[in-house]
Amino acid sequence: MVVQVVIGTQWGDEGKGKIVDYLSKDAEYVVRFQGGNNAGHTIKIKNDVYKLHIVPSGVISGKIGIIGNGCVIDPGVLFEEIDGLSKKGIVPRLLISNRAHLIMPYHKLLDGAEERYLGEKKIGTTKRGIGPCYSDKISRNGIRMGDILNKTTLSSRLDQILPIKQRILKAYGFDEVLDKEEILDTFMVYGERFKKYIADTHLVLHDAFEKGKNILFEGAQGTMLDVDYGTYPFTTSSHVIAGGCAIGSGFPPSNLTDIIGIMKAYTTRVGEGPMPSELFDDVGIYLQQKGHEFGTTTSRPRRCGWLDLIVVRHACILSGITRLAVTKLDVLNDLDVVKVCIGYRLNGKPIDYFPSCIQDVSICEPIYKEFSGWPEFQCPKTFSDIPKQAQDYLRFIESFLKVKISVVSTGPERDETLKV
Ligand code: IMP
Repeated sequence: MVVQVVIGTQWGDEGKGKIVDYLSKDAEYVVRFQGGNNAGHTIKIKNDVYKLHIVPSGVISGKIGIIGNGCVIDPGVLFEEIDGLSKKGIVPRLLISNRAHLIMPYHKLLDGAEERYLGEKKIGTTKRGIGPCYSDKISRNGIRMGDILNKTTLSSRLDQILPIKQRILKAYGFDEVLDKEEILDTFMVYGERFKKYIADTHLVLHDAFEKGKNILFEGAQGTMLDVDYGTYPFTTSSHVIAGGCAIGSGFPPSNLTDIIGIMKAYTTRVGEGPMPSELFDDVGIYLQQKGHEFGTTTSRPRRCGWLDLIVVRHACILSGITRLAVTKLDVLNDLDVVKVCIGYRLNGKPIDYFPSCIQDVSICEPIYKEFSGWPEFQCPKTFSDIPKQAQDYLRFIESFLKVKISVVSTGPERDETLKV
């Protein structure tokens, strides 16, 4: 039996979808434990491209997908995804925690209102209502999946919550009227459609574990977007690190054994907030174009920079990463020089850790180690098929992080994945 957790080690968009798809060959259950449809996972299989936001990507290979209690769900989006998969001949085998929170119409309005209020200081959210939904969960004003199975329960929750939301929207200068009956009717329809999926998913996972089934936990976003350990306040609102997996799925942390960190061979970020190794020159544009660095969820261009090993080490420490999967190595082909950030200079002093204070992060100057570039290469079958300079690059990363690289992805196709 194998229990694996996949964690993004940077700012998200590390290519987790492809690696999850690759690893899920051996899994029976694939579980999302945090985030919502702010995430975007792209999986390419032959001529088909699947873009998933909330459904666990393992369902594409016929696995049982679980959306855990730590997730926030926009029911309209979830149904579009289920219907979209069905049209491509995939009927997802899905279970949704009755404790997962629902993104309500006012959460999306509030996400936009808060960003507008912040103006220049905005976070650059995906405007999917993620932050307001998690805020309501923590302040105990949320609506959970189980609540939409019972009209009386939902009606009384809405009576309690809507008047306050209406006032907050007004304070932000929004005139939209929250129509209780309309929301109640819409969500009762969702409840009817969802009821076959809603379950005590922690018990399903417990049972699966007892029976020795293989389970794969699929993280969304990346460590630097973790609400505690990321570049706060320029983060998402959930616990992205491995500890969040136990809380967000009800699966005991002692049973998590294999924690795989996904690391893109360079760095990208969408939204606002500092990124010490960001490039503002032609190399940054080259990485963006060659790596197709445009958001799956919002289509926004991603900011690009050299690989930052201080960031990845932060992730390794926090999640106890047991091995790494490197993605998009091929995007670095054909460059004369490849650089890696191995430290920062903060107020003139070298430091080797990621500072907690956002003002400090914003003035960190990267310290780089340089590598010779390498030429274009095609579909390597073994590690020794990769150019020597690229091998040196990967070996340096391992020795710096003291974590083994076990998978290297050199292209979007399933077969462009190398076991090391
Ligand atoms: P939110 O999660 O929509 O509240 O957005 C908060 C921050 O996280 C913004 O900078 C988003 O661009 C970023 N973000 C959220 N989800 C993802 C993701 O899946 N990949 C990359 N960035 C993300």
